[in-house]
Amino acid sequence: MATATGPVLTDAQFRKIAAIVHEDSGIILSESKRSLLMARLNRRLRGLSLGDYGAYCDRLEGPDGPQERRHLLSAITTNVTAFFREGHHFDSLAREVLPPLAPLARAGRRLRLWSAASSSGEEPYSMAVTLLDAIPDAARHDVLILATDIDPEMVARSRQGRFSAEALSPVPAAQARKYFQPCATGFEARPEVRQIMRFDELNLHGDWPFSGKFDVIFCRNTAIYFDAAARQRLWLRFGQAMVEGGTLFIGHSERLDGPAAALFQPTGTTQYRRNATPAPART
Ligand SMILES: C[S@@+](CC[C@H](N)C(=O)[O-])C[C@H]1O[C@@H](n2cnc3c(N)ncnc32)[C@H](O)[C@@H]1O
Repeated sequence: MATATGPVLTDAQFRKIAAIVHEDSGIILSESKRSLLMARLNRRLRGLSLGDYGAYCDRLEGPDGPQERRHLLSAITTNVTAFFREGHHFDSLAREVLPPLAPLARAGRRLRLWSAASSSGEEPYSMAVTLLDAIPDAARHDVLILATDIDPEMVARSRQGRFSAEALSPVPAAQARKYFQPCATGFEARPEVRQIMRFDELNLHGDWPFSGKFDVIFCRNTAIYFDAAARQRLWLRFGQAMVEGGTLFIGHSERLDGPAAALFQPTGTTQYRRNATPAPART
């Protein structure tokens, strides 16, 4: 079925695509997102020279399905982000979280920070410049910021580390000059910033291939798109993936609910400290 604006998504096709998105990413596509989904996918259908959504659903289930499902997620994810978004988290990172960790890192202790839904990179680069202000010699120690996202296009963009002057405008001028240099398209992160960062594609609902634990996790403005069961499972996994005393930052409209709440103590607005795990009782 098609109209002048392009192919039309039937109820059954919408339900099928919504079920695939939910299975792959935990994201709930409510009926209210239907026209947004069509607006985004019609472009993809044109790119693939597919005339209707029946053919697109077949592709999602055919041999090219796994690859197409990644494109589908890229098309439907909301990637809105900004440097120093919810700035109080970065104030707290600079003033409370990093100062006690700096001497430990200098003494050889591994330090890991994770931006778990890093979009186009503004969040992990904000973490990196905050970290380098607190620990200027970070690159000489075992210190890394991991930036991951489910959307391969976003991971590629954040790996590039290039930003327009407008995107960079929330960064104070002195910090922007210190950590970014002009490039053909605007500004790019200097090598000393990139040196302490790693980028990878990662589905928060899939396997996490980490060998060690995190001191700091930012997972902001992402769990809000997940259903309650997926969100609460995610909070628990963060609790398991963090060191005792580690800090978790979540988005302004999110709350740490479900069984994981017992693992954390609130230490600020949408900021939580991982409790120490009680020692097993002696028998
Ligand atoms: C609104 S952006 C938030 C970016 C940043 N954390 C911030 O607060 O500015 C949400 C990001 O979550 C990513 N995302 C959605 N579902 C995901 C999943 N299951 N695993 C990993 N990332 C996911 C999207 O690709 C998108 O880049």
